[in-house]
Amino acid sequence: MTDPNLRVLLASNKIQARIREMGEQISADYPDGNLHLICILKGACFFLTDLARAMKRDVFVDFMGISTYGKGKTSSGEVKVTKDLDISLEGANVLIVEDIVDSGITLNYLMQLLQQRKPKSLRIATLLDKPERRQRPVEVSYVGFRIPDKFVVGYGLDFGEKYRNLDDICILEEARETVATAP
Ligand code: IMP
Ligand code: MG
Repeated sequence: MTDPNLRVLLASNKIQARIREMGEQISADYPDGNLHLICILKGACFFLTDLARAMKRDVFVDFMGISTYGKGKTSSGEVKVTKDLDISLEGANVLIVEDIVDSGITLNYLMQLLQQRKPKSLRIATLLDKPERRQRPVEVSYVGFRIPDKFVVGYGLDFGEKYRNLDDICILEEARETVATAP
């Protein structure tokens, strides 16, 4: 696919190699007990499927839909659950699997929400982290790549639902201003 607006930031082979490392590290960190992987729809589903297969242990997989309402460049902080989990988290080791941590608003909210369900442990794994953009504190236990403050697409990440199925993660040039004016 040749698109003049896209510039490769992370090539597929680099993403896959890092996810294999993350899978091995996470497996080693959870030697016993159930481990629930909670995929935050939709962006994290590509990462979740590769991460789960890179793990050397049994895992449960569940899905959660979240929408963050906001005007302008940043989120308002209003977070809504659009699809809840199917499986109880009580007493379980829980790992939230996210595509990217940006302002931190989504995960800050989600950590508080899921903590109320009494898991044994609750941590976050994200493929990408943009630390410069943080507005709310979030403790992230596993980070695939720290990236600069650029809008990226591919490997699950979209711009208006487009580009999710790219193998590579690419910088979408000129996207930021368009995003800023989107409702
Ligand atoms: P936040 O951390 O609450 O601001 O929001 C994180 C969510 O915003 C992610 O799960 C993505 O859906 C979306 N997001 C943030 N930065 C990007 C980006 O560069 N490309 C695509 N989606 C992004
Ligand atoms: Mg997301």
